[in-house]
Amino acid sequence: MLTRSLVRRVTLAACTLAAGTLVACGEPRTDSSAVRQEGARTVSAGFEPAAWQPPAESTITHDSLGDAVRRGLALVMHTHDSLPAYAPGRLACTNCHINGGRSVDAAPLAGSHARFPKYMDRTGAVIGLADRVNYCFTRSLGGNRLPVESREMQDILAYIAWLSSGVPVGEGKALPGAEGLHTMPAGLTGDSARGATVFAAKCVACHGADGQGNANIPPGIPPLWGPQSFSVGASMARKGKAASFIWYNMPYLQGKTLSQQQAFDVAAYVTSQPRLDSPGKERDWPVGGTPADVPYATSGHAAYLPPPLLPRANAGQALVPPPSPAQRARSTNKAQGG
Ligand code: HEC
Ligand code: HEC
Repeated sequence: MLTRSLVRRVTLAACTLAAGTLVACGEPRTDSSAVRQEGARTVSAGFEPAAWQPPAESTITHDSLGDAVRRGLALVMHTHDSLPAYAPGRLACTNCHINGGRSVDAAPLAGSHARFPKYMDRTGAVIGLADRVNYCFTRSLGGNRLPVESREMQDILAYIAWLSSGVPVGEGKALPGAEGLHTMPAGLTGDSARGATVFAAKCVACHGADGQGNANIPPGIPPLWGPQSFSVGASMARKGKAASFIWYNMPYLQGKTLSQQQAFDVAAYVTSQPRLDSPGKERDWPVGGTPADVPYATSGHAAYLPPPLLPRANAGQALVPPPSPAQRARSTNKAQGG
């Protein structure tokens, strides 16, 4: 049984970890309901998902772990410059996970460390955080799998763990944005012809009429399609996901200024352009339930308005090893058993 003073210390420690955001630091919880709880549950009782903020960069320590966190941050910010063999295109993690994964409106990495391992319905199995990062390397960056045992992967994981400081294991799913890109209202669909007009008016100035971006315009404008952008197997290649990212975040620094219909229209235009293929994509959602806007065919799902596909170099490296039948069995049972 925990004493009052231990509960107080535990709660204050969580508060210190969220330093720089005094909002997270309320009065220490010493009420009897918190005291009655034991062990890890007491820590969770003091955790307030809506108030939590990721730590400030200035708090990264000056020791070996801090050096790994700093290297991981650099890899997330400059992925293609740092790891050209794994990110041969021109995207960096931060181009989508905006502000180094801090933005709650752009599939935040803050808190991810406390959300994994988790069941991923696209894979049909439980996956760990390294596999999740590699799904983004192979699909979202159109690149190659980073060896899980490499120092670079360990540095990226160290960064994500640090960015998630203070979120109790298992509580990451309660944070804003934990489900990835926010869901958009049901019933909206885009029209790519109308989207071309939105693109010309609102996007061309930065991303260019050819959608290829411009590395020389600060902070560096990423490409939206073609061989150096995300592949067809990326979540961003789905019209609903792209509409969400665009509505919340684009035009850059002017999120939520388009109408939601405009966001769907321009998303339809962007996702209709040629992009890299993604090997093994037909095995996605192996237990069914493929969302309607997935642009390629899977078991029980017909491709939805697929874009022209560009051949993929190094296809063998562009794949996260699929789960074994045994790893899949239980989720299959679950789906069949209702
Ligand atoms: C003022 C310049 C600017 C404008 C205008 C702009 N973007 Fe972006 N866009 C960016 C930048 C910069 C990033 C990367 C964000 C970062 O790294 O923080 C980005 C990222 C993106 C991404 C994710 C990365 C990628 O390359 O796929 C998409 C999708 C996107 N923009 C779509 C659009 C659409 C659609 C419009 C028009 C509605 C638009 N943008 C308007 C600058 C701009
Ligand atoms: C083209 C855009 C894009 C790029 C580039 C990208 N990602 Fe992602 N990533 C996403 C989207 C979108 C999701 C969430 C999918 C959803 O909404 O279902 C995601 C999800 C994730 C998740 C799971 C988050 C969670 O807590 O569930 C991790 C971890 C991740 N990405 C890491 C990375 C890393 C590391 C990189 C760079 C090596 C990267 N991503 C590059 C778009 C991107």
